[in-house]
Amino acid sequence: MTTDVVVAGGGLIGLSVAWRAAQRGLSVTVVDDAPGAGASTAAAGMLAPVTEASYGEEALLRLSVASLQRYPAFVAELEQVTGLQVELRTTGTLAVGFDADDVRQLDELHAFQTELGLAAERLTPRETRRREPALTPRVRGGLAVAGDHSVDGRALHAALLAACTGTGVRLVRDRAAELTVTAGRATGVWLAGGDALPADVVVLALGAHSDSLPGVPPLPVRPVKGQILRLAGAAGLLTGTVRALVRGRHVYLVPWGTDGLIVGATVEDLGFDARVTAGGVHELLHDAIDVVPEVAELELTETLARWRPGTADNAPLLGPSSLPGLVLATGHHRNGALLTPVTGEAIAEQLTTGQLPAIAEPFTTDRFGRTA
Ligand code: GLY
Repeated sequence: MTTDVVVAGGGLIGLSVAWRAAQRGLSVTVVDDAPGAGASTAAAGMLAPVTEASYGEEALLRLSVASLQRYPAFVAELEQVTGLQVELRTTGTLAVGFDADDVRQLDELHAFQTELGLAAERLTPRETRRREPALTPRVRGGLAVAGDHSVDGRALHAALLAACTGTGVRLVRDRAAELTVTAGRATGVWLAGGDALPADVVVLALGAHSDSLPGVPPLPVRPVKGQILRLAGAAGLLTGTVRALVRGRHVYLVPWGTDGLIVGATVEDLGFDARVTAGGVHELLHDAIDVVPEVAELELTETLARWRPGTADNAPLLGPSSLPGLVLATGHHRNGALLTPVTGEAIAEQLTTGQLPAIAEPFTTDRFGRTA
């Protein structure tokens, strides 16, 4: 049986593409032996484009803001069609600086945000602690961004999976072992189990593994390891996300569920190293406890390491590739959860009209001279 579209990868990005494509009338098959067990399960779910704004990444910021704007309707639709809760938290994000140099960096960020017309409020140490009383009195200042939110990434993935099933997406629980290429065109995938899955178009949504699928042209995607922790017993500890600079190091604390707290994340260029290390856990807990001392009393319930799909400019690879029939939805680096709604919509448009929407056009591989 030939399907219109095979999506290789059943993480947040792959499922979002599959759901939106199926809604547009395409027959879609998702291939993944463990859907959601990659970067999606590690994602803290920060939806924080303003707090994460960086010089030279203005196009990515525009895409990220566009995706954030879609989030409330995206989650409402998912909850409505699946009956599942997705926990979109709209309690804002507080960036804090631990020492004088950290606060200087916050001031630079604030100046950049102001230049771009982004809403952020610079706070004194006292105002910062009034927002989040659990912060240490040593915090030297803060930056409140009311519009930066968070989502429970695991709940989002479960809802997307249910929405896909409800829209007729077929899920094949097997590993894509090779891209089939016939007469210079992608024509489906071979499964590790031995079967062929023919398709008119293949969407590559394998995250950090996107460059590893035989048959795919070389892609500028590399694994960027992140170690991340989950703790319990944090009910009422924080009202929203806290992103801290602690002696120049970044740590974030994201409340989730009724009493959970996510503390993340290391950023390591170590290839596909899957180890959770003593040093990684130590660094995260040390910095988190410096900023919110009560973290020391919480129960450490989970540690894990996964790989972000990093690219040279930290932005995703979207749309056509150099191989006809192969469409890219990968390279989301630190922004997979944030960019899930806009990616699904953009790639579904590419699949049905042959054209990416304008907001996604800067993210084709053309920007690298179309190596892929
Ligand atoms: N988006 C947060 C991270 O990649 O650690």
